Amino acid sequence: MYTNWAHEFPLQPGLIHLNHAGVGPWPKRTKDAIISFAKENSQNGSQKYVEWEQKESELRHYCQQLINAKSANDIAFVKSTSEALSIVAYGIAWQAHENVVYAQQEFPSNRIIWQSLQSRFGVEARSVDLYQATTPEDALFAQADQNTRLIAVSAVQFANGLRMDLAKISQYCRAHNILLCVDAIQILGAIPFNLTKTPADFVMADGHKWLLSPEGIGMFYCNPKLRDQLHLNQYGWHMMEKLGDYEALDWKPASDARRFECGSPNNLGIQAMHASMSLILEVGVEYIYNMISRNISYIHEKYKKYGFNIVSDMSSNRQSGIITMQRQDVDNYNLYKHLQKSNVLCAYRSNGIRFSPHFYTPRDEIDHALDLICNYKEQ
Ligand SMILES: Cc1ncc(COP(=O)(O)O)c(C=O)c1O
Repeated sequence: MYTNWAHEFPLQPGLIHLNHAGVGPWPKRTKDAIISFAKENSQNGSQKYVEWEQKESELRHYCQQLINAKSANDIAFVKSTSEALSIVAYGIAWQAHENVVYAQQEFPSNRIIWQSLQSRFGVEARSVDLYQATTPEDALFAQADQNTRLIAVSAVQFANGLRMDLAKISQYCRAHNILLCVDAIQILGAIPFNLTKTPADFVMADGHKWLLSPEGIGMFYCNPKLRDQLHLNQYGWHMMEKLGDYEALDWKPASDARRFECGSPNNLGIQAMHASMSLILEVGVEYIYNMISRNISYIHEKYKKYGFNIVSDMSSNRQSGIITMQRQDVDNYNLYKHLQKSNVLCAYRSNGIRFSPHFYTPRDEIDHALDLICNYKEQ
């Protein structure tokens, strides 16, 4: 059934938001939550801290539900995807002969962290061109061998929106005893993701894209079987098993994922993400995915009609919330600048224009953005 969610997205008239793969806007309920938290803090200080803890706990459950983790205790809050990737990369007890396989097309956060391991632990970071084999997954597998400890992959590639076949990668990793680390920032909140169907050892995503939350608050899932095998590199009161027992001299890290949260929680971020995530779960990720797919297919059809070069793989199993195209007769960077000036939020990626509409994106706004692309003439 079609529901109009426009009331949750009171974007300024004339602004067209096609950049959810960049930084998503905050829904109305998130703005309200932040305003009310600000009022509460300025008037009551931390008097209601217990309620804040309740929100934190609920948000952990929302995150668990979103990825279908076994327990909310498997989720830690982090400040970014990059931080969670760093927790993994510097937590594993590497042996010098081991290697990590990742794609050269990845966002920098999911490349440089693996490269950094060479000088520190003698671990080889094997960069793979995803287009060097019949399928992107086969390209990754071709570089793996008996010394591969981990495969790192984004569920959806940031520049062209390529959706990886996580089921295939997950199966391969299980069969070869390889750890799987999934950067999920371009999938969560846009496309269903289910740990039961596609088991992974580590999953991380900040909230500021498809999850419509502020920057600075994200989630990190760690397979509970591996949790205590990860070395900890950050320490503080909040990670202790006996939370709040400040005077105890003997301590141990929390047995759950809180061990990865060293200090005070980002309560402002938690309040905001709680509100945004409540919307995502209320709308339902299946429905969201359906609406996003419609928007992407609509844009795709128009691009085909205009004869533009579509960079993204539009086969149904590869599609995501991202579509990137190039106009061959103009400088695409200038076209991007033109769109920006015309109040269309999008990104310049793969030498083309990246659009990333969400479920609520109105069709007339997409049409307007497409008209701007079509009618653009080089000066
Ligand atoms: C695939 C991917 N991974 C990681 C990041 C960076 O995320 P964060 O700022 O949360 O570290 C981005 C941001 O665009 C991204 O697209």
